[in-house]
Amino acid sequence: MHKIIQDLNWRYATKKFDSSKKISPEDFDIIKESLRLVPSSYGLQPLKFIIVESQYTREDLASATYGQLQVVEASHLIVICCATNIGEKEVDCHIENLANTRDLALEEVSGYGRFMKQTISKMSAEEKLSWNCKQAYIALGQLLHTCANLRIDATPMEGFDPKAYAEILGINTEEYSPILLCPIGYRDEEDATQHLKKVRKSQSVIFEVK
Ligand SMILES: Cc1cc2nc3c(=O)[nH]c(=O)nc-3n(C[C@H](O)[C@H](O)[C@H](O)COP(=O)(O)O)c2cc1C
Repeated sequence: MHKIIQDLNWRYATKKFDSSKKISPEDFDIIKESLRLVPSSYGLQPLKFIIVESQYTREDLASATYGQLQVVEASHLIVICCATNIGEKEVDCHIENLANTRDLALEEVSGYGRFMKQTISKMSAEEKLSWNCKQAYIALGQLLHTCANLRIDATPMEGFDPKAYAEILGINTEEYSPILLCPIGYRDEEDATQHLKKVRKSQSVIFEVK
């Protein structure tokens, strides 16, 4: 079986982590770099990844996660947030980074910047938030695959109260909105979920050839 398929079959949404096992700094660096390399619409990267280190804070967060203890027991807790708004400032920032990175004059890429600004200016506040929010899910997918490749367990999670999270973590929601959680670490031997067969539709159902 191909390594990619092995990795994807190995992973599962972990229900119980072994809190005594910690991710090495080397592996965590790979995870951070994987998140930095996540693609996004126009490359604008309207995301922020909050790494919650404090065990005390994580215990506080458990009640805002409907008692799902993965946020406390995993080695690391990542809160994927998206920018609540997006506008000219973010486009200018991206265009500057693009010019610097590729050694281009600003004038060479400013047309692209104007095009992006024009597109974004037509969006309502809700559309901008929804657009940014979609980028968070791309990051989640990449994070899950990267972790599986490293044989690090992870739980994709939407089951939490974003308002309470923002309050506990001191996130200014005019700037960033918590979208997803991903506790990562190592499965507990006693997590029975790891032994369950994957439930997926068959290829013949999900693919259509035209
Ligand atoms: C966006 C998203 C949100 C999820 N939220 C939760 C959650 O809050 N708690 C949880 O235990 N599992 C959560 N899951 C896990 C799914 O239930 C799980 O991925 C699905 O049943 C497939 O099982 P598998 O990941 O073990 O293959 C979530 C998964 C995704 C992709």
